[in-house]
Amino acid sequence: MDFPIFHLDFMGDRLLIAIIAVLHVLINHGLAVGFIPLVTWIEYIGFNKGGQNTVTHTEWDTLAHRLMTVAFIITTTIGAMTGVGIWLSSSLVNPASIGSLIRVFYGAWFVEWLVFVTEVVLILIYYLSWKKSLVSVEAKAKHIRLGTALSIFSWITMSIIVSILGFMMDSGSWAENKTFVAGFSNPIYLPQLAFRTPLAALMAGALALLLARIFTSKNSEIRIESGRKIALWMLVAVPFTLIGATVYYLRIPHLMIGNLPVAIGTMEFQSWYDLLVKFIIGAISTVIIIAGLVYFRPNLKIPSAFYVLPVLGMLAFAGIFERIREFIRKPYVIGNYMYSNTLRKDDYPLYKRDGLLAHATYSPVKEVTPENRLIAGEQVFLLACSRCHTTHGINSVVEKFEDMYSLKPNESLNKDLMKNYISHIENARYFMPPFPGNEAELEALVAYIQHLQSTGLPPEPLETSLNSK
Ligand code: HEC
Repeated sequence: MDFPIFHLDFMGDRLLIAIIAVLHVLINHGLAVGFIPLVTWIEYIGFNKGGQNTVTHTEWDTLAHRLMTVAFIITTTIGAMTGVGIWLSSSLVNPASIGSLIRVFYGAWFVEWLVFVTEVVLILIYYLSWKKSLVSVEAKAKHIRLGTALSIFSWITMSIIVSILGFMMDSGSWAENKTFVAGFSNPIYLPQLAFRTPLAALMAGALALLLARIFTSKNSEIRIESGRKIALWMLVAVPFTLIGATVYYLRIPHLMIGNLPVAIGTMEFQSWYDLLVKFIIGAISTVIIIAGLVYFRPNLKIPSAFYVLPVLGMLAFAGIFERIREFIRKPYVIGNYMYSNTLRKDDYPLYKRDGLLAHATYSPVKEVTPENRLIAGEQVFLLACSRCHTTHGINSVVEKFEDMYSLKPNESLNKDLMKNYISHIENARYFMPPFPGNEAELEALVAYIQHLQSTGLPPEPLETSLNSK
């Protein structure tokens, strides 16, 4: 309430964060956390294969170096920028929740920053000193140790952030004692980490399998051998991913599971839930089948195009997983503490008593009057609904009401039905927070939505609204 409201009406604020964050996670898991240990392992295989008078097996080393080139370029550009982008977008859209998270995770974030900077320094040294590592066996051994250290640091950064993600879903005993340790060791933390770690390895494997295919020449021994090693890596990661997913699923609070169908497919497609679940199972099976064939049938000629399938499967799987994680936590942005509309649960009685606008620092109107009703309604919409809805863009509030009441073209929304719906909105759909304002604000919101429906335009600004306090 004490921050300005940033609102993107055409696409919605949720989508802005989602695009940046999902891209970041795919790069972080697929090309850093899971990928760097894999590259280090391939480098190590080359080192082991090196003959008496050579430092390493050149073909294997070149393959590891090429894989690392891809990871280096993408993680240090799009990876780093989307990382900062998550901060930018989430603090624009929901500064209050970022504020609360910083209060709880203050020290953890500081440590994370130190670990992250170390990771960046290590990745620079690891990649840029590759040529130098070829001069002696000692230099190569040192370089491999550097890769191992880098792998550990990139896992640690992820493992700190995962605690915060778990906390947002279920704050656990923190709600009672408010200590950092209680927040950090929230019930979802370790299960989610147990799932993400092998997931990252699997994603990295799928990507490396495709890249190794591109970087090696037809019928070469290294193509078959490296394919088998990477496929083995993936096959080892599969059971851990499935066990991790199950442990994690069992830890998700019961009420959130009810959000799953809408989380996976939106309301329009929730009846397709079963089909989408089958699609996810299909995607994972494809990954297993391709890895299995590459490993167990090394002489089988699999067309290159098939190597794209595990990558697409893993990207889709991880993308859907992130959407579900973000969605099922609703109506909360921080479990049982702060609703997704940025309002704290404990402050609701205050808003009911004084009205929402009275506490909204940046609202031009502090109280609903007959003259400012539409402007007040717009403010109430921004405060109570705009973190998830737009007026006319994606997930438009007008369309949602029209669809829910199955209106015919040109038919107007009914005021009383809407009022009644909004005042019990949390019972109608568990994923929406209760309406926070008073009776006059509810009326103003309904009038505003009706105005949007009939004119398609925002209300005229009040000439005096800014200077008449
Ligand atoms: C936490 C996010 C969130 C907030 C806050 C929120 N909504 Fe929603 N609302 C949703 C989602 C998500 C849907 C379903 C979208 C879909 O899948 O099509 C939805 C659906 C709806 C529907 C259609 C319900 C149905 O059963 O057909 C209406 C009406 C609605 N919202 C009105 C509102 C109003 C009015 C407010 C503000 C007082 C609001 N919502 C606040 C997330 C939210």
